Amino acid sequence: MSELDNKHIVLGLSGGVACYKAAELCRALTKQGATVQVVMTEAAAQFITPVTMQALSNRPVFVSQWDAREPNNMAHINLSREADLILVAPASADFMAKLLHGRADDLLSLMCLARPIDKVPLLLAPAMNREMWSHPATQRNMAQLRTDGAHVLGVGQGEQACGESGDGRMLEPDELMQEVVRLFQPKVLQGKHVLVSAGPTFEAIDPVRGITNLSSGKMGFALAHAAHQAGASVTLVAGPVGLATPYGVKRIDVRSALDMHAAVMSQLDHADVFIATAAVADWRPEKTALEKIKKESSGQMPAMAWTENPDILALAAQSARALNSELFCVGFAAESHDLKTHAQAKLARKKVPLIVGNIGADTFGADDNALLLVDEYSAVEWPKDSKLVLARKLVAEIAARLPTFRKSV
Ligand code: CTP
Repeated sequence: MSELDNKHIVLGLSGGVACYKAAELCRALTKQGATVQVVMTEAAAQFITPVTMQALSNRPVFVSQWDAREPNNMAHINLSREADLILVAPASADFMAKLLHGRADDLLSLMCLARPIDKVPLLLAPAMNREMWSHPATQRNMAQLRTDGAHVLGVGQGEQACGESGDGRMLEPDELMQEVVRLFQPKVLQGKHVLVSAGPTFEAIDPVRGITNLSSGKMGFALAHAAHQAGASVTLVAGPVGLATPYGVKRIDVRSALDMHAAVMSQLDHADVFIATAAVADWRPEKTALEKIKKESSGQMPAMAWTENPDILALAAQSARALNSELFCVGFAAESHDLKTHAQAKLARKKVPLIVGNIGADTFGADDNALLLVDEYSAVEWPKDSKLVLARKLVAEIAARLPTFRKSV
């Protein structure tokens, strides 16, 4: 699935060393299916040539408001009317100061001013030296631009082209891509805090062995990603998995079920939604051996005593916030057979309003899944699709259930 199919993006470049990242960004946007129209200021053309940007976008680049290629000679109107989004990356301090005052003495600022403000969002990716960034004038300008309806992104931190180090680096192309995709997603969870548990747990037997399970964590990571794109602030409590943290998501790494339990409980106070996708080991060895258990010559596996792990979801569902309908808990049920029966049993046993069932063997490690949504009244099948598509659907479903859930107190 391409994230930006049918989207037309005007990519504006104002002057700054970060123009070199705009080339990579242009490629990333087109790879995701967007068409990209590049518009550059004269200053930007000092840093990267229109030829490069034309080759990458596969379209002639516009620099001047006097460009005679447009039949009506109104490039600023034509380009802004076609756009689904205007993204200025890099947005220099000077360019933002200009926008703030509604000045329009070059094509890019003219186009930003002339855009239909309710239809074409403006996304600014600042890039500048750290002193320029922290200057009260820049901070004041950005605050006012936000009030005026622009989406002003943050900046990265680190070494700068001038040799100094600090805040002011433009976000990386991949981060900007994520911001663009996010901007187009409906903000159904705006202002909500979502907590997700994901992946397996690992219960140590000795320093070199343990028990775990086959969960890849992909569904939970996709849900964390989708919830963030839907406007939520997201905390992801992840068991041992080798997956990259979804952009914008706060991640807490854990290993055992006890670690996961402690991490989830520490986050419940401000969560509005808890989605438990983790495949938590039900049992752990009563004692973890401090040294590697050696193979005895008896041919028998040494007997071990086991202790049951806390049921994190069931405990969360019994927390004061959940009982007060301030926390909506969603469980997952990975089964090998009789999905509906087991999912319904789990719904009752865990006392949660929604259980999402799937067949473990079909989904472990895969990029797609098929789900069965089970609540008190119904069991609805969601056919096979990518985990991200299903995650977005599930996020929308949860968001739609929140208001009635709250009223049911
Ligand atoms: N869960 C949990 N803590 C546990 C066990 C399960 O939070 N100790 C959560 C899972 O994250 C999932 C749901 O409970 O959302 C169901 O997990 P599952 O392993 O399918 O169910 P169990 O309760 O372990 O039951 P069984 O092993 O009998 O299927």
